[in-house]
Amino acid sequence: MYKSIIRPILFSFDPEKVHHFTFSLIRFMSKIPGIKGLFKQMYLVEDTKLHRELFGLTFNNPVGLAAGFDKDAKLYNELSNFGFGFIEIGTLTPKPQEGNPKKRLFRLKEDAAIINRMGFNNGGVVEAVERLKKNKGVLIGGNIGKNKVTPNENAVNDYEICFNALFEYVDYFVVNVSSPNTPNLRALQDKEPLTELLKALQVLNFKKSKTKPILLKIAPDLTDEQLLDIIDIVSETKIDGVIATNTTILREGLKSSNKNEMGGLSGKPLTHRSTEVIRFLAEKSHKAFPIIGVGGINTAEDALEKLEAGADLVQLYTGFIYEGPKLIKEINKALLKKAQ
Ligand code: FNR
Repeated sequence: MYKSIIRPILFSFDPEKVHHFTFSLIRFMSKIPGIKGLFKQMYLVEDTKLHRELFGLTFNNPVGLAAGFDKDAKLYNELSNFGFGFIEIGTLTPKPQEGNPKKRLFRLKEDAAIINRMGFNNGGVVEAVERLKKNKGVLIGGNIGKNKVTPNENAVNDYEICFNALFEYVDYFVVNVSSPNTPNLRALQDKEPLTELLKALQVLNFKKSKTKPILLKIAPDLTDEQLLDIIDIVSETKIDGVIATNTTILREGLKSSNKNEMGGLSGKPLTHRSTEVIRFLAEKSHKAFPIIGVGGINTAEDALEKLEAGADLVQLYTGFIYEGPKLIKEINKALLKKAQ
C-alpha cells in the first residue's frame, strides 16, 4: 500500500513540505486510540533472537532510524511504533539554526536516492532535551555537531555543550564530523583535530558517574589511508564504535536530471560504497569495535550484506522514504529466518 498509493501522493509534493506534513500526520494519527497498537501489529517484530547487546545497551532489534529524520526529537516515540530498534536524533547544535536556504532537499527518483543540503537546521539542543524528557522507553542515539558560525578552532566547545546537555537523555552519542553541508566540518575528520575532539569528550564522559558510549560517524568519501587513521583514532581515544557512513559528495552513474544539485547523496547509489567502508574497517581493525552500518539500505538483502560485511547494527533513512515502514519488518524477518 505504501509504494502503490501513499508514496505516489507524497512524491508529487515538495520533499521538505512532505517531511513536515508526514510528521504532523503521524503525530495526529498516533493520538487516535488503537492506532499505535495497529502500527505495532503491522510493523513491529518482537523476538529475543533479534536482541543485540552492544556497548552495554540492549537493542530490541538491530534496525535503527538514521540521523537527520527526527533532528529535533519531535517524533521518536511515535516512530518507534514502526518497528525500529533504536532512533538517532540530531544532528543537534548548541544554538538553534535555520540551515541552508530552501530548496535544499531533492528526490532522485530514477536512482532511488536523495540529495540534501539541509545544513543542520535544528531548534538547538536545549529544546530537544525538553522533548527527550518525554521518552517512553525508546533507545535513543544523540547525534551532535557544531553551529555553522562556530569556527573549527572552537568546535570542541560546541560538541561539549551538546554532550553535557544531552547526557542524561540519550543512550549513546554520535560525533558527526562527516556532513558535507556545513562548511569545513569534514576537516575535523583529520587525525589531529579528531583525536583532540574525541579525547575532550572522553574527559567529560569519564567525569560522569557512569559513562555513555561515544561513536564517530564518518563519510564514505574517506581514502583507505584516512580509514586506517580512523581505526587508530578509535583505539587511541577508546571511543565505542563507528557509524559508517554519512552521505557522499560523489556523483557516479546517476540517471536523474537533478543529479548535480549540491549536497550529500544518499540511497541506492551509496549502498556499495558504504558496505565497502564497513568491510574495510572490520577487516583492517580485526573487528576491534562495533560498527553501525548505514547507507543505501533499500532491501532486506542490503541490510544482511552490511551485517555480513561487519556491521553489528544497521540504520535507514532514504530506504524508509522509498520503501516505507514495511522495510523495517522485512529486515527483521529476514534476520529471524537466518537465525533459524
Ligand atoms: C541525513 N543524514 C544525516 N546524518 C547525520 O549524521 N546528521 C544529520 O543531520 C543528517 N541529516 C540528513 C538529512 C537528510 C535529508 C538525509 C537524506 C540524510 C545522513 C543519514 O543519517 C545517513 O547517514 C545517510 O543518508 C545514508 O543512509 P541512507 O539515507 O542511504 O539510508
